[in-house]
Order: sequence, then C-alpha cells, then structure tokens
Amino acid sequence: MTYQPKTDLRVPFLVLAAEASKTAHPPVLREDTEATVPVNDEQRHARGSLFVLEGIDGAGKTAAAQLLEKELRARGLDVVRLREPTSESKWGKEIRDRSVKGELDPEEELNLFMRDRRWHVTNKILPYLREGKIILLDRYFFASGAYQTTSTGIHWSEILRRNREEIHAPEPDIVFLLDVPVEVGLSRLGGRSGDVNLQFEKRGRLEKVRHAYLEMAEHDSANFVVIDARASLQEVVTQILDAILELVNRHRSARKAVD
Ligand code: TMP
Repeated sequence: MTYQPKTDLRVPFLVLAAEASKTAHPPVLREDTEATVPVNDEQRHARGSLFVLEGIDGAGKTAAAQLLEKELRARGLDVVRLREPTSESKWGKEIRDRSVKGELDPEEELNLFMRDRRWHVTNKILPYLREGKIILLDRYFFASGAYQTTSTGIHWSEILRRNREEIHAPEPDIVFLLDVPVEVGLSRLGGRSGDVNLQFEKRGRLEKVRHAYLEMAEHDSANFVVIDARASLQEVVTQILDAILELVNRHRSARKAVD
C-alpha cells in the first residue's frame, strides 16, 4: 500500500474562542473553515499559524525545522521554532534525563509527555499564537499517539483524543509527516554524535511507530501532508516551505477580505 500526501490543504483557521479566553481555563482554539464567521478585533489580531513536523527518529525533522526557520525569516515572516519534549519544564527535563537510559515505564512515558505538553501549550504555544506568530513545532501530540501506543497498547486515536480534550492542545494548520523507512532513520542516527536513546530508538519499536504515523495520516482528522523524507534535505524543505507559504498567503488574503 502506498501512502499519498493529502493534496487538499484545507485551511483550518485557528480562531480563539472569545468566551474561552475570559475563563480561568486555557483558551480553547476551534477550527473554523468558514472565512465568513464574524470575528472581533481581539480575535482578528490573535491568529498565528501552527506547523508541526513529525516522523520517526532520524527522519530529519530537526534539520528541516532549522532550515525552514531560516527561509521563513529571510522572507520577513515572524517565526518561532519550538520542540517537544521541551527542555524547559521539569517534566521535559525528566523525560530527557531518564529516557536515555531506558528507565521510563509505559505509564510514566505517557503521563510525562502529557504534563510537558500541557505546560508547553499554556506557556508557549497559545501565547505565540495570540501574538500572531508562525510556529514551527518539532513534534507534538501526534508523537504521543505514535510512540506511546507502542508502549502502552492504547490506540493512537485515544491518545490523540486525550490530548485534544484534556489539554485543549490546539489543532495545527498542517502536520508534515517526514516518512522514512526505519533502516534509513537508524543509519542517519548512526552518523549523529551522542548516545543512542535506549527508550525510543529501537528498530522494532520504530517500525510500529512508523506504521502508527502512516495510519494516523490516513485516518485522523488533522491536516496531514506526508513527505518522502528519503529525498535530500533541500528537497524536503522546499516542499514544506511551498505548502507553508501558500497557507500563510491564504490566511493573509482572507484577513484582508475581513478587514
Ligand atoms: P527528539 O529526538 O525529537 O528530541 O524526541 C525525543 C524522543 O521522544 C523521540 O524518540 C520521540 C519521543 N517522544 C515520544 O515518545 N512522545 C512524545 O509525545 C514526544 C513529543 C516525543
């Protein structure tokens, strides 16, 4: 079976739900595909974009994100690059410290990623979206779906549901899945300095992770674009950049039409 990119780049406008921002809870972002829905001034200036890079270890996400940041900045765009697990929250630090040695049990894995993400959504992702920034996010809750299904046995769709409903993790505009065969990912990791991560970077586990990602790209409601990441970094980045620029321009035109 071959997996084709979804060419229909639907534009899920991220619109801050006005009422939600007045409550003590984190604001709820909702998808709004209709450009005709009335928005107030606060909402109009509150729209950023969220682009996520996903893939197995060694797929090239981090190198692609770095280059994309540079390209977008060179075009005068207000871009910020983030990653999960974070290196700022205590849960992110715990994941990084303990996973290298393969110490986390399945429950702990899932819970630590959820806590780290709740911190990230509240303290970084939502504030940047409100400021209107373009966020490039290196891994997000789809990684929990793909990786933690292999440790806990919980179906990826249930893990995504928990992220959406319990954390109110905002929907990305596009999820770019950088797909490579596991042997390609592992051989790229082999050329990297530093230790192998005993928790995540195992062949058998990565085969299942890749499979879960591809299933997700086909069946989940998020706007996935699957990229064949065996191609050169430059080719991968060009494809992603084109899709981002098209969407950012569409957002701008839609906003002008409302103004
Ligand atoms: P990184 O190599 O992209 O920094 O991520 C570290 C590892 O964390 C990587 O092997 C994938 C794993 N991971 C999960 O298992 N679940 C998650 O939710 C996230 C964000 C990462």
